Amino acid sequence: MAEKWTPETWRSKPIQQVPDYPDKAALDAVEAKLATYPPLVFAGEARKLKKQLAEVAEGRAFLLQGGDCTESFAEHRADNIRDFFRVFLQMAVVLTYAAASPVVKVGRIAGQFAKPRSAPMEKIGDVELPSYRGDIINGIDFTEAERTPDPVRMEMAYRQSAATLNLIRAFAQGGFANLDHVHQWMLSFVKDSPQSSRYQDIADRITEALDFMRACGVDPDSAPQLRSTDFFTSHEALLLGYEEALTRVDSTSGDWYSTTGHMVWIGYRTRQIDHAHVEFCRGIKNPIGLKCGPSMEPDNLLRLIDVLNPANEAGHLTLIARFGADKVYDHLPALVSAVEREGRKVVWSCDPMHGNTIKAATGFKTRPFERVLGEVEAFFAVHRAEGTHPGGIQVEMTGKAVTECTGGARAISEDDLSARYHTHCDPRLNADQALELAFLVAENIKKEREKRHAGVAAAS
Ligand code: PEP
Ligand code: CO
Repeated sequence: MAEKWTPETWRSKPIQQVPDYPDKAALDAVEAKLATYPPLVFAGEARKLKKQLAEVAEGRAFLLQGGDCTESFAEHRADNIRDFFRVFLQMAVVLTYAAASPVVKVGRIAGQFAKPRSAPMEKIGDVELPSYRGDIINGIDFTEAERTPDPVRMEMAYRQSAATLNLIRAFAQGGFANLDHVHQWMLSFVKDSPQSSRYQDIADRITEALDFMRACGVDPDSAPQLRSTDFFTSHEALLLGYEEALTRVDSTSGDWYSTTGHMVWIGYRTRQIDHAHVEFCRGIKNPIGLKCGPSMEPDNLLRLIDVLNPANEAGHLTLIARFGADKVYDHLPALVSAVEREGRKVVWSCDPMHGNTIKAATGFKTRPFERVLGEVEAFFAVHRAEGTHPGGIQVEMTGKAVTECTGGARAISEDDLSARYHTHCDPRLNADQALELAFLVAENIKKEREKRHAGVAAAS
């Protein structure tokens, strides 16, 4: 029998990655205030996402999750949100066509503010200060005032999340997501890309499909599904005081939901089964993510699955594999086959970013695009071999032309990184690299479909 759960039971468990707030009374006051604020998302929306993710778990849909490593207060501008959304929608169209099935769209946005760090302190010269933990906790500048955790930042993050979500809801429903626009944006990307011949084929086939639909009388004017889209938000549920304050009982079901975002995940560093983050996440009914990396053993994973998804409900749990391109084959097959053998219903998603971070000779943290791609290809190959569904990807990306990850069709070199390196935390794919990745994932999805069709033909 599981122990009783409430939104605050995590407080009696050991915890990792917790900021040290000097003023506890101020922290309590902000948390108490947040607990009276309106929810950012509704339980019904989280349930809708869960239903869509259940389709992914059953192999009938694909999950696209992406956005910043960390949102920042400084970059909170309409054009950043718009440019991200524009690239994200183009990726989704390419993947929808390739998979011939729905793409579930989830942003790392409107709440992705708190960061786990490998070291609690940072030293520059003789000065040692707390590490930057994301704008919801402290500031990035290397001064004592900025690096001291300040609870007022939680309220700022809440308000920024509300404003971001408001604009995204308007974009998703108000005409910006019109399929004809998205298609035109995609065509101009293909035309300008140095790899344009590689993408032309899929782009042409999408054009033909849309022309065919239009000839049949189906276009954005006649079909509301082609003018708007579902879009959900997600973030790592790291700062549990903030999460707890916005965890509410849903009056229709009597269940607890986090209302900070539709989906939340447990990071790689905070996944200990008897610790606070797992405790918090086991009690909420939102879709939950769990990062899986090289040190995750099959037994450990099965125990975590039982704690996080005891009813074995499809769509409730997404396992996010992040091994590093060269380690996928060593670790993922055993995890996938253990989950399969035990009949656990999960979504398998691939995060090709966090296992592929290196330090360039120039000192910048970067990710070579070919390694990102290599991890995605290995992820698909393992699922093809196991006969399971490679359900989705989660990427760190932006709609801007930043220079943070090397490679891609425009061949960003280590020397180029300093030109537009804007991230507050991990290096993101820029707009071109993100779309290129979508085209390359589309090729892998096509292989999966061909294998499935060949299997059906052989069986009949
Ligand atoms: C992240 O998703 O930004 C992150 C820190 O990932 P992980 O927990 O997998 O390292
Ligand atoms: Co990151």
